[in-house]
Amino acid sequence: MKIAILGLGYVGLTAAACLASQGHTIIGIDPSQTKVDDVLAGRSPIVEPGVAELIAEARERGLITAETSLVAEVASCELAIVCVGTPSAVDGSHNMGYIAEVSRQLAELMKAHPGRNLTVAYRSTVRPGTMEDLVQPIFDSVLGDAASSVELVYYPEFLRESTAVQDYFSPPKIVIGTKTGAPCETLDKINVGIDAPVFYVRYPESEITKFVDNSFHAVKIVYANEIGRVCAQLGINAAEVHQIFVSDTKLNISPYYLRPGGAFGGHVFPRTFVLCSISRVVQVASRI
Ligand SMILES: NC(=O)c1ccc[n+]([C@@H]2O[C@H](COP(=O)([O-])OP(=O)(O)OC[C@H]3O[C@@H](n4cnc5c(N)ncnc54)[C@H](O)[C@@H]3O)[C@@H](O)[C@H]2O)c1
Repeated sequence: MKIAILGLGYVGLTAAACLASQGHTIIGIDPSQTKVDDVLAGRSPIVEPGVAELIAEARERGLITAETSLVAEVASCELAIVCVGTPSAVDGSHNMGYIAEVSRQLAELMKAHPGRNLTVAYRSTVRPGTMEDLVQPIFDSVLGDAASSVELVYYPEFLRESTAVQDYFSPPKIVIGTKTGAPCETLDKINVGIDAPVFYVRYPESEITKFVDNSFHAVKIVYANEIGRVCAQLGINAAEVHQIFVSDTKLNISPYYLRPGGAFGGHVFPRTFVLCSISRVVQVASRI
């Protein structure tokens, strides 16, 4: 498949390298001349295990090229994957400027090439509502009735830096958000052979997925550190406690107690406050 990738950072370049290794033809777009020059020279502009080798091989096989702006050839691609940055501001909000800009550029390109069809899959992390309130209106306003020639999909990325290639081919899950929650044939084609559960949902459910995952990971880290602090203050071996805790995949590392619903109660759970109390006493004591 001929695929355009917009944004050659960690996410975009890893996708470019992995998709080219599967035989797809890639046009990478990034305003950074340095990144484009690197790719054209068969080098990786990012430091990520495995990516440099895959980019060199893809360049040798003539499967990857790169440009600093959208070229007409992108209109002949079956799929465009948007991987531009969505940096956070100090107040916690996300800058959606690059998403808006790239959407407008793609819409203008498709307007200049009537009769062509393109699936545009957004991999950047976007806040819920972005597809319906920002992206779709841009395509509608530029293309009018011809907006149906573009299929918009939200396709969150779950890779981790340092294991990005491995995570690309073996993700924890594949989440695909479409307008109605119906499947997207183009993404199904690029995911053939990837062994992961696939969830087709509407845009908002797919957009919130990354925030739910990342906030849970943050909760886990804070919780683990808090337990570690309490153990340290009480002279308890935190590593042993950790081993016991994670060995329990029935109630601890499991879907139990995670379904949204009622508050907790009964005889047992309120006693967890004892731990919180210990932690507070320890904290207060350590300040004396
Ligand atoms: N890095 C990660 O581990 C990771 C994991 C999952 C999701 N994400 C999300 O994926 C997105 C990209 O992350 P990243 O780490 O690759 O970011 P990055 O900053 O490394 O790369 C973004 C790239 O987009 C390019 N760009 C900006 N405007 C452009 C335009 N108009 N056309 C083409 N390219 C343009 C920039 O030059 C830059 O090279 C973010 O939303 C991020 O939150 C990142």
